[in-house]
Amino acid sequence: MFRVLFILFIINPAFASEDKSETNNESQIALKIVQDKCQHCHGLEGEASNVLYPRLAGQHYKYIIKQLHDFRSGKRKGTMNDMAKDLTDPEIIALASYFSAKPTLNHRIRNKEFAQVGWYIFHRGNEYSGVPACSSCHGENGEGSDSLPRIAGQHKRYVADQLTEFNNRERTNDNAIMHSVASKLTEMEIHAVANYVSGLK
Ligand code: HEC
Ligand code: HEC
Repeated sequence: MFRVLFILFIINPAFASEDKSETNNESQIALKIVQDKCQHCHGLEGEASNVLYPRLAGQHYKYIIKQLHDFRSGKRKGTMNDMAKDLTDPEIIALASYFSAKPTLNHRIRNKEFAQVGWYIFHRGNEYSGVPACSSCHGENGEGSDSLPRIAGQHKRYVADQLTEFNNRERTNDNAIMHSVASKLTEMEIHAVANYVSGLK
């Protein structure tokens, strides 16, 4: 009996992994799309070694799904509209599982004094201008949550660009939450906080 099972396993690998076939299928769908389309900008593992593109590794599942829907519908505008326009709902789910499971990365902070200013904004906000502490929503380590994006380890340039876009209402898919936050930040605070979060792990 054991030998029969063993032979079945050899000649038909699917036999041994029947239970997992759905997950395997999903990750294969994702891997194919990532290799064909996404890796060019975001990297195979979502590491985005090119700082022009956001890191997706370890980003939250629900947040990724929301962003891809928003790009597909045009609610969030940018380069991604073209990339998302033909994605089906199951493909979006597969991609969100794929990237959310990848290991996270962070940056080495060079300008430590400047990052200290960012630390203050991130953990305490600015009570004189009404900036809330970022950590109250994005978590003590910028890890985010189910529906809130992880910003820890993200490229500082991307973080600063998004804050500027929220402020200018070029990015409006956030129910105005981030607009209200970003509109109170000064240029210096934007760059300091972006610097700080890029080093969080
Ligand atoms: C030509 C480069 C390029 C390609 C290819 C690309 N993206 Fe993007 N992606 C971007 C840029 C740039 C942004 C940042 C938003 C913007 O500026 O439009 C982004 C943003 C995103 C975001 C939102 C990240 C966040 O933190 O809010 C997700 C999710 C995403 N891309 C997924 C994908 C997936 C999945 C694919 C493959 C189907 C893909 N991207 C292909 C350039 C690209
Ligand atoms: C009241 C809750 C709240 C506070 C406080 C808050 N955020 Fe956010 N932030 C959000 C939500 C919600 C989103 C996701 C918007 C969306 O769905 O597109 C977001 C998105 C972002 C993004 C875009 C992430 C990405 O991957 O594209 C950045 C960057 C960001 N916040 C930075 C900050 C910083 C820096 C602070 C502090 C100065 C801050 N946030 C304070 C709720 C908050």
